[in-house]
Amino acid sequence: FDVDKVQSVREIREIAENKLSQNASLYYNCGSGLHEQTLLDNELAFKQYRFRPRVLRDVAVRDMTTSVLASKVDLPFGISPTALHKYAHDDAEPAVASAARHLNALLVCSTFSSKSLEEIAESAPKSIKWFQTYIFEPRDITLNLVKRAEKAGFKAIVITVDHPLTPKRPYKYKYTVLNNFLPELFFGNFGMGDDTEPFNASVTWDDIDWLRGVTALPIVVKGVLTPDDAVIAVQHGVHGIWVSNHGGRQLDGAIASVDALPDIVAAVEGHCEVYVDGGVRHGYDVLKALALGANMVFIGRPPIWGLAAGGERGVRRVLEILRDELSEGMALTGCAELSDISKEMVVKKTYR
Ligand code: FNR
Repeated sequence: FDVDKVQSVREIREIAENKLSQNASLYYNCGSGLHEQTLLDNELAFKQYRFRPRVLRDVAVRDMTTSVLASKVDLPFGISPTALHKYAHDDAEPAVASAARHLNALLVCSTFSSKSLEEIAESAPKSIKWFQTYIFEPRDITLNLVKRAEKAGFKAIVITVDHPLTPKRPYKYKYTVLNNFLPELFFGNFGMGDDTEPFNASVTWDDIDWLRGVTALPIVVKGVLTPDDAVIAVQHGVHGIWVSNHGGRQLDGAIASVDALPDIVAAVEGHCEVYVDGGVRHGYDVLKALALGANMVFIGRPPIWGLAAGGERGVRRVLEILRDELSEGMALTGCAELSDISKEMVVKKTYR
């Protein structure tokens, strides 16, 4: 098959499923909990929104360029941090980075990458990259990673805050790690999914204050689902709030992230940027999230499917498909610029 001819994310997912080992497929695709309810809800929630298109507004040329934390990118959607790309393809994270560079799209690298953050940065030196990590215990582990990310040219630090621990997930899969850690800092190897866990359940907003004091890079908190926490995040001086339920892999039964978005956008009142991920599978989903007030939308699993289906070209294809669908959707809703996309353009199918 020719990955360049694939026409939808769904199709690329099917190709990926035929190539992934059962273990890898479970690892990448599963949610948490008995029912994986939030995993399903993330996708379903987008379908509850309907467009209210505008007409006769000259949409012959559509501009999708935007800026995010003062960096210019060509697309209003980027790649969420996801762990361990080597189980999808030998080329792993550098292939994803290079696909993102090709489209000048924002890439967020996971701390739990199969290749070191330096190697990933070198594979796409000029493109805009952020580094995602956690507040580890001791904090020096985080500090060390943040300093390495600064040196490697990452433009922001994303702290994932929805992960005090790894909840039960419905399937058993095995994986070992890792790359980014100096063994002396991390007590040697650990295996996620086994008994030992690197996650720290005692993290508080004080740790965010600490982080602000040790890095000049902008800080984004990823995993906020309520306006209350969004307001606290603003009070603690974060530069971005990333509305997310970790792709349905943390609290099962949590609200779908796109449903959490509008209230958070309203509560933040423009004091910082707001992003969203979870369940985006089509360019129209991106359009809906932008209409609901997101400054940037992220995709987690689709790039992994692209990577599994066709390495770097597969990831590129995913980005191109979403870009072209978004462009089509902008034309049909009367938007030549991203700034033309407004909240009046979507309505939720609701019983209210
Ligand atoms: C993730 N996610 C994630 N998040 C994070 O902050 N650090 C990480 O290392 C990972 N790892 C990870 C692995 C895998 C296999 C998945 C599927 C997800 C969550 C990710 O950043 C994002 O929030 C979700 O994937 C978004 O949902 P969709 O687009 O996958 O539906």
